Amino acid sequence: MPSPAPGAAVTARAPAKVNLLLQVGPRRDDGFHDLLTVFQALSLHEDVTATPAPAGRWDVRVSGTDGTDVRAVPLDGSNLAVRAARLLAERTGTTTGVDLHLHKGVPVAGGMAGGSADAAAALVACDALWGTRLGLERLGELAAELGSDVPFALHGRTAVGTGRGERLVPVMTTATFSWVLVTSPAGLSTPAVFREFDRLTGDGGSDLTDVTRLRAVETALRAGDPGQLGAALHNDLTEAAVSLAPRLAATLAGGRAAGALAAVVSGSGPTVALLAASPAAAAQLAAALADEHGAGRVRTATAPVLGAHVLEAVRATAVTDHASARRPDLQPDLRP
Ligand code: C5P
Repeated sequence: MPSPAPGAAVTARAPAKVNLLLQVGPRRDDGFHDLLTVFQALSLHEDVTATPAPAGRWDVRVSGTDGTDVRAVPLDGSNLAVRAARLLAERTGTTTGVDLHLHKGVPVAGGMAGGSADAAAALVACDALWGTRLGLERLGELAAELGSDVPFALHGRTAVGTGRGERLVPVMTTATFSWVLVTSPAGLSTPAVFREFDRLTGDGGSDLTDVTRLRAVETALRAGDPGQLGAALHNDLTEAAVSLAPRLAATLAGGRAAGALAAVVSGSGPTVALLAASPAAAAQLAAALADEHGAGRVRTATAPVLGAHVLEAVRATAVTDHASARRPDLQPDLRP
């Protein structure tokens, strides 16, 4: 059974996402909706540091970058990063606990999968700390058990998602795209937005066998053309999110008026994602919108970026367990 060395620490980073395309089918018997979506990983990220804790201890602390409001993050066993660590421990027979420090750069409850990024980063950090070496495929299976968006936070880059979003196929892109994200002071609950979608569509939903929109997004990504991508962006949850948070209509219109190539609700919202033609155009757009919304609510990002990966691994300074010190197979895997 793997055992972490005292003094060791691993920090892993995982990205936020924006949905370039989000088509939602009818609600399934299990309460989820089948999706046809294209995820893109954004340069806003979560850093999770895992350090060893005694058996049975699953501690979590939270801090935020750039004024990210972290007050709504649960600090008990319901935290998705804690659930990720416990699931990995359970499946690998690891009996120690862990202390997780979440350093959040993704708005909470914003439709950018920050909680899912925490879970993906926790899986990668604990896998390295404990030397369990599950590999991307097995970690991806655990990720899918934790939430619909967790596998994408693990894989990153750009991918088509089907099923409830957990089945991924990478998409080729030939450019880095520039985004401006406008967050909202109040979050939206993902289940509530899906329920509103069901109400508005009369439990209808899109025909997911029609791949016209998907082909348009793929063509724009292959061409690396932001104008073409802007024209192809689409989110079926827009009306539902706007219905629950009517201010979003003005944020979307204001972004377009300020020069964005396109404006979409990110995932289930309420963050609005604006596509810009270049990093300079994004900076200009962000400056214009900061006057209107306040600087703390406007961020720039580039995409795509890598999925969850180890950022830093600190080896143990003193190994007191001499039995495990003699056993290289019991040492933590701290390779970057
Ligand atoms: O998978 P995750 O825990 O992120 O999903 C949160 C909630 O969002 C689900 O309980 C469900 O209400 C809704 N959802 C959905 N269809 C999806 C993904 C999420 O209805 N494909």
